[in-house]
Amino acid sequence: MNSIDRYAVIGSNIGHSRSPQIHAMFAKATRQAMEYGLLDVPPPAFSTVVRNFFRDGGRGLNVTVPHKAAAHRLADTLTPRANRAGAVNTLAAVDGKLHGDNTDGAGLVRDLTVNLGCRLEGARVLLLGAGGAARGIISPLLEAGVSALVINNRHPARARQLAKEFSDLGPVTAAPATTAAIRGRTAVSDDAGYELIINATSASLHGELPQIPNHAVGTQTFAYDLAYGERDTVFVHWARGAGAARAVMGLGMLVEQAAESFFIWRGVRPDTAHVLEALGARTPPPPLSSPG
Ligand code: ATR
Repeated sequence: MNSIDRYAVIGSNIGHSRSPQIHAMFAKATRQAMEYGLLDVPPPAFSTVVRNFFRDGGRGLNVTVPHKAAAHRLADTLTPRANRAGAVNTLAAVDGKLHGDNTDGAGLVRDLTVNLGCRLEGARVLLLGAGGAARGIISPLLEAGVSALVINNRHPARARQLAKEFSDLGPVTAAPATTAAIRGRTAVSDDAGYELIINATSASLHGELPQIPNHAVGTQTFAYDLAYGERDTVFVHWARGAGAARAVMGLGMLVEQAAESFFIWRGVRPDTAHVLEALGARTPPPPLSSPG
């Protein structure tokens, strides 16, 4: 019998996942005896593989695309944030039951505010996309005190539905529907110069740019793509060209949501700075140069 605590990330087509590397770094730095593997399984096999993993003594799973909604359905108990998100990215065995949580939103907010120095309180935020990834970050953004959260989606009805669902939590609306489908990727909106634009569509995964309202970018705009890759995503490339103050990919969110999961499982909060640097997620700031 394997006595070391076992964890893994479960997803489909995730050969490129950085999660095993991230958790190995966390475990080493916090001196936790554990192993963390990778389970690449198609949707029909998901629930069986999860049940077998925990039956055989596994302690926790990170859940990624496309299984987060299935994990939500499979969990015996849910945290309020996972329930609200309708998606689970962290499973843990608790008293023989499968406990589901969602650390994505917390990871995003922490990356934005702590690592990147982006002020969310009072910020006007444009959220691109109305699928599972968007759903998971709405409530943490509203909790962080944004003054407006405008959802823009290729199919506007989905944006309206999502805005309605979360409207009890704060100032969330759908972008005016004059728009996306008609004018393509330069769809017009009256909303100018958002402080933060978050790309939560899956367009980057296909090398595509989602519809973005005209005048959305100002010189103060911070652009954040939840997706990440070896090279800049189309969205990040576009945002830089459109004059955004800063445009980054979501590797920092990946590290931060992983740290939150690690804390849930091990009760120890790993330091993320050295991991971000090791993954090349952040270039350290340039050395200060003295005037003259
Ligand atoms: P995920 O769980 O990754 O969010 P999803 O629930 O399938 O996946 O949602 C994908 C999101 O990306 C949707 O908002 C989708 O827009 P539609 O609702 O109009 O389908 C958006 N999306 C995907 N590809 C896109 C593209 N090429 N351009 C614009 N939006 C795109």
